Amino acid sequence: MDNAIILAGGQGKRMKADMPKPLFRILGEPMLEWVIGACEKAGISDICVVKGYKAEMIDEYLDGRYETVLQAERLGTGHAVMQAVSFLKKNSGSDTLVLCGDAPFIDSQTINDALARHRADGNSVTVITAELEEPAGYGRIIRSANGISSIVEEKDATAEQKKIKEINSGAYWFRTDDLIDSLNSLTTDNAQGEYYLTDTIYILLGKGKKAGAFISQNPDVVLGVNDRKGLLRLNKTARENIIEKHLENGVEFTCTDGITIGRDVIIGEGTQILSGTVLSGKTVIGEGCVIGPDCIIENSTVGNDTKLNYVQCYDSKIENNVKIGPFVQIRPGSHIKSGAKIGDFVEIKNSVIGEETAVAHLTYVGDSDVGGCVNFGCGVVTVNYDGEKKSRCTIEDNAFIGCNTNLIAPVTVGKGAYTAAGSTITKDVPADALAIERGDTRTVEGYAARKLRNRKKK
Ligand code: UD1
Ligand code: CA
Repeated sequence: MDNAIILAGGQGKRMKADMPKPLFRILGEPMLEWVIGACEKAGISDICVVKGYKAEMIDEYLDGRYETVLQAERLGTGHAVMQAVSFLKKNSGSDTLVLCGDAPFIDSQTINDALARHRADGNSVTVITAELEEPAGYGRIIRSANGISSIVEEKDATAEQKKIKEINSGAYWFRTDDLIDSLNSLTTDNAQGEYYLTDTIYILLGKGKKAGAFISQNPDVVLGVNDRKGLLRLNKTARENIIEKHLENGVEFTCTDGITIGRDVIIGEGTQILSGTVLSGKTVIGEGCVIGPDCIIENSTVGNDTKLNYVQCYDSKIENNVKIGPFVQIRPGSHIKSGAKIGDFVEIKNSVIGEETAVAHLTYVGDSDVGGCVNFGCGVVTVNYDGEKKSRCTIEDNAFIGCNTNLIAPVTVGKGAYTAAGSTITKDVPADALAIERGDTRTVEGYAARKLRNRKKK
């Protein structure tokens, strides 16, 4: 089965942070994850990650999702692949993709198209290349009559070779067995004293095998990061590319200030995204919505024609025609059903809010199951935590929760029931009843006037 090796041993000294370079984030996700994502999307899930610098951080991040091998010292890209020989042997008879963990914009189309060329041409190795106006720093592709003859690193190149604009992206397809075979012949006889993976090209040619190049249509596949400025640049590129894609899909942006959209986010036609909005994770937004300004939506699903204004929403589901905001937090595990309205300074946590229900202002609904057409007055609190355990409240359809009600969970307010403003409800309220827990108002006649007189005397 086709498989991939991702080289992630590098440190990235110039990032000035103690972390393997592939773990630095683009739009909130490690570059390594972008590379893994491209493999998965291309149908390759048999992946081996070569770790080196701060290997334990790679382990912690991957959390056992993929096989890893340790490159104890960084002796070059060829040496990195040597560490994965047993992974390669397991995959004998197939083709192996080699990718850099710090070049996040490799895409599944490039991977698959390159493989098709690799197979059609009967190559032992196919290098994914790009043509750059400024090729400095990259390995240059030396072409031959029927393919390529070698890759020359910048530091080993002659002045003439440095003029070549076709460069090595650092991604390759190898016939697995030929890769295993060629690794044994690598030496450190070069300007950097490293085992260069790129030397496999002329080694394989020397064995009578074929080497070719696939020029990527996506020039971003070569983009990598060396320092913080580069990381910011790649974030900008990613951000712009993603917004471009959504524009093509019919999403509306009047400006893109502060808008960041994760690569897996799906947005329907005619939806407007306003400034300062950050959409991330597996978020799906329907059609005709207005999201923003300043919304943060993470791993959540939003239906059609919903308006979110200054909302933060995590791991939740919001249906159609819902209006939320401003200044609302929807915490994980919530489900806001169609037609609901949630107004300013409301927090909803791990709760269901039924259809057409209104929670207009200054309210906390946690661990609760709320039916349809319920009305919450201002300042309601579901008291879901007694200091030891959390309990749920149930509020049935058409109930009316008076202002400043405390509902001490577990408690149920039945269908159509009322709670009087200011009540602390500790017992279930039957359907259609009124629960009132409140001292009678006592009036002290003339109290204020007397007070005023006393003050004047002083
Ligand atoms: C490499 C290529 C160069 C290509 C460039 C594209 C070689 C010799 N050169 O150069 O032709 O144009 O990538 O970016 O391969 N790594 C390890 N262990 C090591 C060394 C590197 O895991 O011992 C990993 C790095 O983390 C990185 C990748 O391999 O993900 C590439 O390494 P890097 O040092 O950036 O290679 P370049 O010198 O840029
Ligand atoms: Ca590099």
